[in-house]
Amino acid sequence: MCGIVAAVAQRQVAPILLEGLSRLEYRGYDSCGLCTVNQHEFTCLKTVEKVTALKAMVQKQGCPGTTGIAHTRWATHGEPSVTNAHPHIIGDLALVHNGIIENFAELKNALIAEGYEFKSQTDTEVLLAEIHFLAVKKGLPLKTAFAKALRNVKGSYAIALVDRKNPETLLCARQGSPFVIGLGIEENFVASDVLALLPVTHRFIYPEEGSIAEITVSSVKVFDLNLNERKTEICESDLDAESISKGKYRHFMQKEIFEQPQALEHTSLGRICDGTVDLSSVRGFTADFLKNIENIKIVACGTSYHAGLVGKYWFEELAGISSSVEIASEYRYRKAVVKPHSLFITISQSGETADTLASLRLAQNQGYEASLCICNVAASSLVRESDYAMLTRAGAEIGVASTKAFTTQLLCLLLLSTYLGTVQKKINDTQCNEICNAISELPNAASEVLECDHRIALLAERFAGKHHCLFLGRGIMYPIALEGALKLKEISYIHAEGYAAGELKHGPIALIDENMPVVVVAPDNELLGKLESNIEEVRARGGKLFVFSQGKTNLKSDSQTEIIALPASNPVLHPILFTLPLQLLAYYCALINGTDVDQPRNLAKSVTVE
Ligand code: M6R
Repeated sequence: MCGIVAAVAQRQVAPILLEGLSRLEYRGYDSCGLCTVNQHEFTCLKTVEKVTALKAMVQKQGCPGTTGIAHTRWATHGEPSVTNAHPHIIGDLALVHNGIIENFAELKNALIAEGYEFKSQTDTEVLLAEIHFLAVKKGLPLKTAFAKALRNVKGSYAIALVDRKNPETLLCARQGSPFVIGLGIEENFVASDVLALLPVTHRFIYPEEGSIAEITVSSVKVFDLNLNERKTEICESDLDAESISKGKYRHFMQKEIFEQPQALEHTSLGRICDGTVDLSSVRGFTADFLKNIENIKIVACGTSYHAGLVGKYWFEELAGISSSVEIASEYRYRKAVVKPHSLFITISQSGETADTLASLRLAQNQGYEASLCICNVAASSLVRESDYAMLTRAGAEIGVASTKAFTTQLLCLLLLSTYLGTVQKKINDTQCNEICNAISELPNAASEVLECDHRIALLAERFAGKHHCLFLGRGIMYPIALEGALKLKEISYIHAEGYAAGELKHGPIALIDENMPVVVVAPDNELLGKLESNIEEVRARGGKLFVFSQGKTNLKSDSQTEIIALPASNPVLHPILFTLPLQLLAYYCALINGTDVDQPRNLAKSVTVE
């Protein structure tokens, strides 16, 4: 979603702001802009093109100043246009904003009655006008006006404001949208996430919800919305600036697919010990960790939701714990009945997904025994607000399409369900040992599967010109079919649906013809025979099949059916290993279709608004 960068320094800030914006591009955006202050004058440049175009404008026109704010916008109120792009300026004030002001219409009417005119269709300009009204027309000191305006708005925001009359001070605030403060030497910064600021600092403050920050070159003060000063903690980030370079790869997504063996190794590091699962690295872990849990509710969005669906199979099979999975945007608006001794699990790559966070906050008052998040970002809101936090340790994921975050989420769920299975005595030592051994072999097994890269690149050519595609799976592979379909549609724009193969004849079989490729995930498991019957149903109707199997299938490749054999593996690893070729398939189809692989249209990496 939108990205914010702001800086107050003794050097020119435009290069810092532009570099920060480039590093936030992965979040998804449709326009961008920046505003600097020099000798009490604003220079404000905006474009509906990419950040490189903004860089060219800065080079051509200049953008002097030692204080500035910058923004990548993902449109919510008003189309992507230069007028709607941020920063917005009213009088001496300029503002950038990530989030949504829900009561903007009401505030706007009141401000129009006070004589304000609006150039854009954005809620941001209304927020700025409210601050301006309180500061200029009501004569409040700017910080007081800023805080009062924020108390008047409903919704979510991360904002940065600069006053050209007093450019030595940046005012920032957050409520429901993330931002971090980066600490430099005689210069300080603000950004939507640490990745934007890694070239200038590794020292960060993560302000809590409902914080206002007053930032100068030499000081950072954080307050609540009533301007009571808050204590802050400085954290060192161990991410390096290189962690967001593509290296030898053409796209971040491709790099992240191939990073999976290493990422999976990191996920299990220290968590497998002498054939047992050791979860003492989970934040909040105690000796009685989850001992009394009888039910599990998993809530997440998108790919993370698919991980949750796989988790349900494992929690029920390995730990005998009744589990259900819900989409966060649905969970947060219904009245859930919470059974006694229930654990609430959220899953999220970013830890900032608005619906997932809102569900967690709701669950905290619903009588759950505890909340646990499985998350990739250690400093995220989800990690900070959950009772327990299990980090996926996938490393920064930049491509909008979630790849290594998903497979590491799966591995966390497998570790957790195996752990619960042993503490609840549902699996014995031998079974636990066998799973741990399989997990230890996982990085090598993943590397071996990724060797199918070239084969999948050729296979993708068979999808050229196709507009629709079905993905089928059964049992624990059904969520993998859903994930394969999501990957394909989000980056190649081929319409794809995942189905439980047994459900085919209840409707979707009507779609089958030679123009509808059908991808099947068919590992060697107890449902293979059933799946083969479903495959025959597709063949009988002239469908073109692409079957990912492990060689034990009775099916043979022919003009209608292509069998892609993957190496044999322990069944417990099937969901993780069969995901990899589906990611590659989506990637190569996107290349053929010429889409923007890392920043597909209309999508944002971190969905911080509803
Ligand atoms: O950061 P999160 O895992 O909470 O994000 C949830 C979804 O927005 C995300 O998984 C989305 O579906 C991905 N683009 C899928 O590749």
